[in-house]
This record gives sequence, C-alpha cells and structure tokens, in this order.
Amino acid sequence: MSTEGVDKGRRRFLTAATTVVGGVGTAYVLTPFVLSMQPSAKAKAAGAPVEADVSKLEPGQMMTVEWRGKPVWIVRRTEQNLSDLSSLDGKLLDPASDNAAQQPAYAKNAHRSIKPEYSVLVGICTHLGCSPTYRPDIGAADLGGQDWKGGFFCPCHGSRFDLAGRVFSGVPAPSNLVVPPYKYLSDTRILVGEDGGAA
Ligand code: FES
Repeated sequence: MSTEGVDKGRRRFLTAATTVVGGVGTAYVLTPFVLSMQPSAKAKAAGAPVEADVSKLEPGQMMTVEWRGKPVWIVRRTEQNLSDLSSLDGKLLDPASDNAAQQPAYAKNAHRSIKPEYSVLVGICTHLGCSPTYRPDIGAADLGGQDWKGGFFCPCHGSRFDLAGRVFSGVPAPSNLVVPPYKYLSDTRILVGEDGGAA
C-alpha cells in the first residue's frame, strides 16, 4: 500500500516536472525559447527570482523549481490536506510558526502560505541540509500509519514535516522548513524569491 503511494507520488512529480518544462510553449522551437527564458547562471547564483507556472499542477501534486541553488517545492494541497493541518498541531514543535526566521510574515498562518491551496517551501531539511522526500500518502505504515496525514520525510535522520512544512516534535530537525519570499503574478504564476517587500 505504502509502496503504491510512493510510486504514485513520484510519478506525479515526474509528470508535473515534464508538464512544466513542456508547457512553456509547444508552438515554439523549444530549446532556444526555454534557454531565452532562463535567468543566466550568474543571475541565478545571485538569487534572481524564479517564476513557477502552477496551472497544470493538480491537487496532491508537487513541482520543484530551483532558486539560489536550492529546490523550492510547490505543493497543491487537497481540501483533505488543508482540513488535516489543524489536527496535527499537538504533535508539532512550532505549530503556529512562531519562529519568525522560518517564514515571511504573510506565511505565519495556519497553512503557512499566501493562498491555502498552494504550499511554497524550501526543500532543505532544517537539521543538516538533506532534501526530504515528498510523502503525500496518507496513512503510510512506515510513517506512523493513521497518524500520517501526508508531508515530507527526511531519509538522513528521520525528520518529518507536515504539508505546511511544520516539523514534528521529537525528530532531529529543530525548526519548520523555510518558506521563501514569493508573490503571485497571476492566479497561476508564482514568483519565488521576490515579494515586493510584502514581508
Ligand atoms: S538532515 Fe534531515 S533529519 Fe538530518
């Protein structure tokens, strides 16, 4: 059961990644167009903001963009995911996101995001920097069974985070995953790395 969930999650991720790349414009000669849209390597290293098109992301799917050399995850949470968040508060280290270093002020809320549906997180474990695995499979036997409502699991030392990037109590990671600065350019376009000073 859990294996099926993992495969599903992985397949979905690959599909989303393909969609994002392929979705840039089938009417164009793809390679030159894509290259022209990418910030230069120098600009990327300096932290240029990165745009993410979430129009093809279905509920339950995650896509990844690279910002400042780090993976940034965007998860489209389901209604079930959102209603599950509050049920986890008693098991979390910082359920109310009181550690202000981990998110901009506009993400200090129950869902740690601007819009409840989309979670935007830096995909780096706050313990020692591994990249956790997306585990949306609710009830995964290896992650606590019925208590697991979907989230992220760090394979390095076993830290667990919920779908808002909030860390569970009793794991090595000392804080919630970082929410990067971001803003919406439209309903389905997110700019990661810049928020116009909204923070
Ligand atoms: S680096 Fe993630 S648990 Fe240690």
